[in-house]
Amino acid sequence: MKAIEIRKKYLDYFKAHGHIVIPSSPLIPENDPSVLFNTAGMQPLVPYLLGQPHPLGKRLVDYQKCVRTNDIDEVGDNRHLTYFEMLGNWSLGDYFKEESIKMSFEFLTKELGIPVEKLSVTVFEGDEDCPKDEFSAKCWKDAGILDGHIYYYGKDDNWWIAGETGPCGPDTEMFYDTGKPACSENCQPSCDCGKYVEIWNNVFMEYFKDENGYSKLKQQNVDTGLGLERMTMLLQGKETPFDTELFKPVMDKLSELQRVDIIESRRIVAEHLRSSMMIIADGGRPSNLDRGYVLRRLIRRMIRQMNKLQIDLNELSTLIDINVDNLKEMYPELEQNRETIKQVIIEEKDKFVKTLNHGEREFEKEVKRLQEQGKDTIEGKIVFRLYDTYGFPPEVTKDLATENGMKISMEEFDKLFKEHQEKSRAGSEQKFKGGLASTGEMETKYHTATHLLNAALKQVLGSHVHQRGSNITAERLRFDFSHPAKMTDEEKAKTEELVNKWIKDAIPVERFEMKKDEAIAQGAEAMFIEKYGDIVSVYKIGDVSLELCGGPHVENTSELGEFKIKKEESSSSGVRRIKAILIEK
Ligand code: SER
Repeated sequence: MKAIEIRKKYLDYFKAHGHIVIPSSPLIPENDPSVLFNTAGMQPLVPYLLGQPHPLGKRLVDYQKCVRTNDIDEVGDNRHLTYFEMLGNWSLGDYFKEESIKMSFEFLTKELGIPVEKLSVTVFEGDEDCPKDEFSAKCWKDAGILDGHIYYYGKDDNWWIAGETGPCGPDTEMFYDTGKPACSENCQPSCDCGKYVEIWNNVFMEYFKDENGYSKLKQQNVDTGLGLERMTMLLQGKETPFDTELFKPVMDKLSELQRVDIIESRRIVAEHLRSSMMIIADGGRPSNLDRGYVLRRLIRRMIRQMNKLQIDLNELSTLIDINVDNLKEMYPELEQNRETIKQVIIEEKDKFVKTLNHGEREFEKEVKRLQEQGKDTIEGKIVFRLYDTYGFPPEVTKDLATENGMKISMEEFDKLFKEHQEKSRAGSEQKFKGGLASTGEMETKYHTATHLLNAALKQVLGSHVHQRGSNITAERLRFDFSHPAKMTDEEKAKTEELVNKWIKDAIPVERFEMKKDEAIAQGAEAMFIEKYGDIVSVYKIGDVSLELCGGPHVENTSELGEFKIKKEESSSSGVRRIKAILIEK
């Protein structure tokens, strides 16, 4: 079944069950400066979820165009997307759990023809804010979900809220079993080995959260969301959304044009091109602020990847045409804006190419100078000069630095950037989501937490553990390391405990400069040893950790807060990936 057919079936089914079809809101929220893009179908409906009567009634259904950029760095793998379409149906104080579950079950099994054995569901296990959702579990059983296919989880998995405050509630999620072998005896929907894929989320929205806690809403609502790209992929038995008809024509063209074969780069180009086109069709334009900056970043990342693939940038126009032709039936706005889309993207490309040429020459000069001095970190003032004088985006400097085995000091960059911002008074509120004004402070904490995690994993799992990669944002750390097996819950708990103990021990973090050989002789950890100069910067955390690193780091581990592992998953063969966060105390 094609995506457009799934969408039609969904709208028709809920229409037949008393829902009015409402149009998708534009990607750029109307009258809501607090969010950059619509990220869920419920977002434009918030006033009605809170009790204001909707002019079209209490039962609504739509498809909503969404952009989520929190995982932008993950795009290129087999599942992450920045633009996606969410199918959703709503009860605004009308039906509640029983009818919602009945309809979801019927739609999945009858309309989409998914065999019941392939379905599992999860419900809320209950806590001090809200009781265990045994009623939903019973509804699922009555509808026909098989014994042993219903799971109870806590707030992390079965509670939904957009951000920190707002309407919210327990949810029930539906999972599709891909038929892949279970990764362990304990493999279940919450596991992210890839056997189970979440396909639909029904939120029973009857609470409101503010700074003081939870209260009951005026009415009991249902808010559901089904990701169209994912459902399409599963129903077609494809491994990734890029193998479906939504992306295939562009992916094929990229394969034909490329002179270097890099699958991740092709995916990034295909994905960012579609997102950019959708944003432009809804009125977005590149700039250095907020939404405009997200768009600029998408286009620039795409161009960098086209360069990696060695594709002539003049082909952009052809790629845009292929996408418009392929997607115009689903999104007529693409056809209506075909020329504008081309003009905006090509203009931005021209600007960026100039920037890249100038900036790269400057970058190379600086790297040469630093390497001659045995340094492995590009100072923030250089990153800033490249940005300020040459318009060279810091994330590109970071990418290039990584490719050259160097690091960049974002803390100093952030400081200079902030001063610059204040001076020019541009973008007075700091609303850069994942953009330029990353807060430095959190990232610094995550750098130190990464060293502690590395040390803890060695103690818990063994000395074979070595860093294979690391990526830090203001929201989390991501750490890849060599280890042959999935970590058990006990191993994860022990690792967390150790890191938290070291935080509690308030150990000073010290920086030394020493000869590389000496550092290695002392057992310092280093990822790309051959790429460092002779004199290296080493960070020492008491007896716990010694690592070659350019920093930045906190001065004492006590500054970190509470350390928590959010996810442990496979990254590639023999390499595991942990995502962890710090919770402020
Ligand atoms: N708001 C919920 C979600 O985004 C259901 O649509 O998952």
